[in-house]
Amino acid sequence: MHRLITPLTLPLLILLLHPLPTHAQQQQRCQWATLRSATDSVLETLQTGLRSTTTLPAIFSSPDLAYTYNGTPLPLPLAGSGSAANSSGSGSSVLAAPLAISVAHSVVDQDRCAAFIKAVGYPAEEAQTAGGVVVVGAQVWYNYTASVGATVRRMDVVVAAEGGWNMPVGLDGEVLVGLVEGEDWGALSRAVQDGRAVLEGVAGGYLDLLGGGSGGDGDGGGNGTGVVWGRPCARLEGSVYTAVGETESCEMGLEISENGEGITERQFVVDESVGSVSVLARDGRHGGSPTLFEFRVVKGALRYVHQFAAKALAETDD
Ligand SMILES: *[C@@H]1O[C@H](CO)[C@@H](O)[C@H](O)[C@H]1NC(C)=O
Ligand SMILES: *[C@@H]1O[C@H](CO)[C@@H](O)[C@H](O)[C@H]1NC(C)=O
Ligand SMILES: *[C@@H]1O[C@H](CO)[C@@H](O)[C@H](O)[C@H]1NC(C)=O
Repeated sequence: MHRLITPLTLPLLILLLHPLPTHAQQQQRCQWATLRSATDSVLETLQTGLRSTTTLPAIFSSPDLAYTYNGTPLPLPLAGSGSAANSSGSGSSVLAAPLAISVAHSVVDQDRCAAFIKAVGYPAEEAQTAGGVVVVGAQVWYNYTASVGATVRRMDVVVAAEGGWNMPVGLDGEVLVGLVEGEDWGALSRAVQDGRAVLEGVAGGYLDLLGGGSGGDGDGGGNGTGVVWGRPCARLEGSVYTAVGETESCEMGLEISENGEGITERQFVVDESVGSVSVLARDGRHGGSPTLFEFRVVKGALRYVHQFAAKALAETDD
């Protein structure tokens, strides 16, 4: 746990607005209440575990459903946790078993018919590999029709567990929960809400700062053109917490790419009502490991940055 408090003043970059990218996925805008209740149902399912057809709600019943765990496609329901000794099998079993959630947060994206869930919790005993806290991030993409409602079309999950990259052994789970709980992710009044283009621009700008230039591949946009640091601002990257005061920049201590490879394959879920932008991507600084970011952007400026990732790919080859 590092708390970095060093004054550093850097000029603000100018945020250039850019038009929304045109992208293939054109679906009817989803009804908020439908998305909300489907997403609550996904969250409840994480608590009971994804291993049994009897506990998987009907929204998971499509045979075409695509599910990925730390970048690996897996069938649902997940195999049980009997394979805990097997490193790829144990990964899947973390979510097969019940998860005791300490703190959770979820947002919905009506334009993309999608949701983002972030939960910090403790897996059931049989699924614990290192006995500690896990951070679960999920982007959930729905099929939606007014008559049927929402069903899960695709769910991409990244789980950072103790021992994995950015979650060193010995991380104090209670401290992590306390940090997440202490942040204000409350709804913003309409007058101060930013539009999707601004939110994605700020998020993309941050990702571009990490190196490798623009990783935007047109899949959901996010060709960041600049980042504006809010004051105060806080970054939580696994167990590294950076908080600075009102007069300082949050840019210090950023891990800039050394190999020229940045954050690629960015997939965005945005909720303007809370200024939330989540980005599922691959982190070229760490061998292309699947990673999730969530940003809180208020009045065009970054207030919170969360990043967590699966183990670096190089470490999962065993
Ligand atoms: C580990 O689990 C994966 C996925 O279930 C399986 O494909 C692989 O063969 C298993 N490896 C061993 C050594 O059991
Ligand atoms: C989602 O809808 C599309 C178009 O109707 C369909 O082809 C696809 O199978 C559906 N996917 C799921 C997972 O239900
Ligand atoms: C991203 O933005 C930069 C700067 O505005 C621009 O030069 C570049 O062409 C854009 N790239 C894409 C893929 O839109």
